[in-house]
Amino acid sequence: MAVIYPGSFDPVTYGHLDIIQRASKKFDKVIVTILDNPSKKALFDVEKRLELLKSTTKELKNVEIDSFSGLLVDYAKKNDISIIIKGLRAISDFEYEFQMAHTNTMLDEDIETVFLMTSNKYSFLSSSVVKEISKFNGDVSKLVPEIVKYNLNKKFRGDI
Ligand code: PNS
Repeated sequence: MAVIYPGSFDPVTYGHLDIIQRASKKFDKVIVTILDNPSKKALFDVEKRLELLKSTTKELKNVEIDSFSGLLVDYAKKNDISIIIKGLRAISDFEYEFQMAHTNTMLDEDIETVFLMTSNKYSFLSSSVVKEISKFNGDVSKLVPEIVKYNLNKKFRGDI
């Protein structure tokens, strides 16, 4: 069975990678898809986010990286997939995810959202936290892979 794991991935963190790895063990195919939303200001453009996801998941043979715009349910239908994977870090995620899951099922009754609990180790982690730390020159080595750290440094300081 194939599933979709959607998100902004701006940038990908060890929290996302934890979900991707675990989903790849349980499902035949995982399509990780980046929302290309020009109205939401992102630090990295979609091309860079695709590149970072591809290079950090290259060992996982049943994982594909893609991007989409518009409604997630339309993307799912186009790919003939009816299961969306989301990570839940804490109760604070629940309200937003609850709303999205029900909205997606309202739009397409065939869609189911399956939640994986993010590992305890990464329960505090978000792309926003990573960007904040990196922006102010903090160490993000424990939060993102080396290539992501390199690109954050380049973005904020133009160095290396
Ligand atoms: O990583 P994020 O920002 O929490 O991901 C949110 C995402 C991309 C999964 C969500 O915004 C989404 O699916 N957007 C596509 C538009 C859509 O389908 N909206 C209706 C459901 S609320």
